[in-house]
Amino acid sequence: MLIPYKNSNQKIAMGLLSLMPKEKDLTVLQETIARYETDPDWKLYLWKEVDFVGVIGVNIEAGEAKLQHVCVNPSFRKEGIGKKMLDQLKLTLPCELKPTKATENFLLACGEAEEEKSD
Ligand SMILES: CC(C)(COP(=O)(O)OP(=O)(O)OC[C@H]1O[C@@H](n2cnc3c(N)ncnc32)[C@H](O)[C@@H]1OP(=O)(O)O)[C@@H](O)C(=O)NCCC(=O)NCCS
Repeated sequence: MLIPYKNSNQKIAMGLLSLMPKEKDLTVLQETIARYETDPDWKLYLWKEVDFVGVIGVNIEAGEAKLQHVCVNPSFRKEGIGKKMLDQLKLTLPCELKPTKATENFLLACGEAEEEKSD
C-alpha cells in the first residue's frame, strides 16, 4: 500500500532513502528530507507491507514528473515491490514520469524510460 509521507515517519523514510548511493552523505540526506517536507512540488510516499519497506519520491516541475528516489529494504527486494510502488505512484501523477540519472536503470528495467538522461 502506497502511503503519503508524514513527518512522523521521518526516521524510517530517511533510513530507506539512505539506500540510494546519492543519499549516503548525512547532510545531503537531511536536505533531501527537508525538501520533501517543505516543497509542495516534491512528493514522497512510503510502501507498507506489515512494516514500511520502501520509499518512492518524485518532483513535478514544468509539467514533468521526475523520479528522484526509489528504494526497497534489501530483505524485500526482487519481490516486485519497486514495480508496485512505481505503478501506484503513476496513478497519482498528472503527467508523464521521467527518470533522473539516479533512477534511470530501474525505470528502464520496468519498461518506463527511454535512453535519455536528466538531473
Ligand atoms: C531499485 C530497487 C528499488 C528495486 O526494488 P525491487 O523491489 O527489488 O524491484 P522489483 O522487484 O519490483 O523489480 C522490478 C524490475 O527492476 C529491476 N531492478 C531491480 N533493481 C534494479 C536496479 N538497481 N537497477 C536496474 N534495475 C533494477 C528488476 O530486475 C526487475 O526487472 P525484471 O522484471 O526485468 O526482472 C531496489 O533494488 C533498491 O532499493 N536499490 C537501492 C536503491 C537504488 O539504487 N535505487 C535506484 C535504482 S536505479
